[in-house]
Amino acid sequence: MSLTYKGQNLYIDNTKINSIAKKNITPFYVYSLKKIKENYQSFSNYFKSVKPLICFSVKSNSNVSIISELAKLGSGADVVSEGELLKALKAKVKPSKIVFSGVGKTENELRTAIRKKVFLINIESESEARLINKISKKMGQITSIGIRINPGVDANTLSKISTGKIDSKFGLPKSNFLNFCKELKSFKNLKIKALSVHIGSQITSIEPYRKTLNVLLKIINLSKINFEYVDLGGGFGISYKDRDRKINIRNYSKLVNEFKKKINCKIIFEPGRFIVGNAGTLISKIIFIKKNGNTSFIIIDAGMNDFMRPALYNAKHDIVPVIKLRKKVISNVEFVGPICESTDTFIKYKNYSYIDENSFVAITNVGAYGSSLSSNYNTRPLVSEILIKKGKIKVIRKRQKISEII
Ligand code: LLP
Repeated sequence: MSLTYKGQNLYIDNTKINSIAKKNITPFYVYSLKKIKENYQSFSNYFKSVKPLICFSVKSNSNVSIISELAKLGSGADVVSEGELLKALKAKVKPSKIVFSGVGKTENELRTAIRKKVFLINIESESEARLINKISKKMGQITSIGIRINPGVDANTLSKISTGKIDSKFGLPKSNFLNFCKELKSFKNLKIKALSVHIGSQITSIEPYRKTLNVLLKIINLSKINFEYVDLGGGFGISYKDRDRKINIRNYSKLVNEFKKKINCKIIFEPGRFIVGNAGTLISKIIFIKKNGNTSFIIIDAGMNDFMRPALYNAKHDIVPVIKLRKKVISNVEFVGPICESTDTFIKYKNYSYIDENSFVAITNVGAYGSSLSSNYNTRPLVSEILIKKGKIKVIRKRQKISEII
């Protein structure tokens, strides 16, 4: 995390959060560019000997300034919609570093991707291959595609973010894969460039990855296709709480090294959460504190529309005070949002101190799937995003005006 206390005050890098909170309407997201860069560099170092193409998964955080900072470090982008594709291009990611994934790309989206000559379109069905072939033929182009396989591997993560199991909607089934590859040869405007896979997100053990690599090895040998690239997707789990397990990337990189030697291909990764997850914080203000039954409800001005993960996946993100006020202990505390739904709740604590009505709190580790998953539910405006860059406070997305959504 990029958060530390100095005395009573919470800091992000060397910037006092209370000073930012006093000048901006809460809630707002604040990111540490230093942390984002460190994460990117550390990911890239782990895989130094593999020399992969790293395509930041834009769905995890689709702020153009953040994509652009990553592009400056050499990152490409993994996009899943026309909107994400256009954002990546606006952030100056080179088309030759953009991978377009997704199980249901529309004709319009495919046309844009083909026209912009993205590096790779990862296809997931025969119908999609046919459509890309048709569009490419009309445009007089040959389009590079990756074939996403469903390896039938359980990623042992939350069921709602697992994608590699046999009965999930993603990828092409192993059983049909070889036939499919044969059929693809009749599509003259497609070039098979990659085999791709993504088995889920927040994966904390390398075992599912090991199984996946074994499946890929077998399939590649049987298919007799020389895939120039293997796109191994994303999914690298981070620790949300100190005692959480996180993935041992060093060990995973050894597996990938061996794999690469065996099949002599280039590697693509699509990390999202690993790059931005622990670099973002959501600052919110306590509106009221009230007691119902045995529970003291801390009602904050951030709701499930601003940050969905707890409501959607029952994810636990610690909430800490921005200033440690006087130590009045409150027991059986539940932090909740203002939205009229009982699932608009964040986290419970047995005992909590240092807060009062009107004080600020920080929801931690929300850099991935925080802002990008937010919505206008309850006609609440999308909140602002702030980047701490070399000690300077930069607004990288303005808070939406209510008039814009009426
Ligand atoms: N590549 C593909 C094809 C993906 O579908 C995803 C994420 C990624 C890469 C990046 O995965 P990452 O490295 O960030 O784990 N909203 C959920 C996570 C959904 C992940 C969807 N796909 C959450 O908040 O946990």
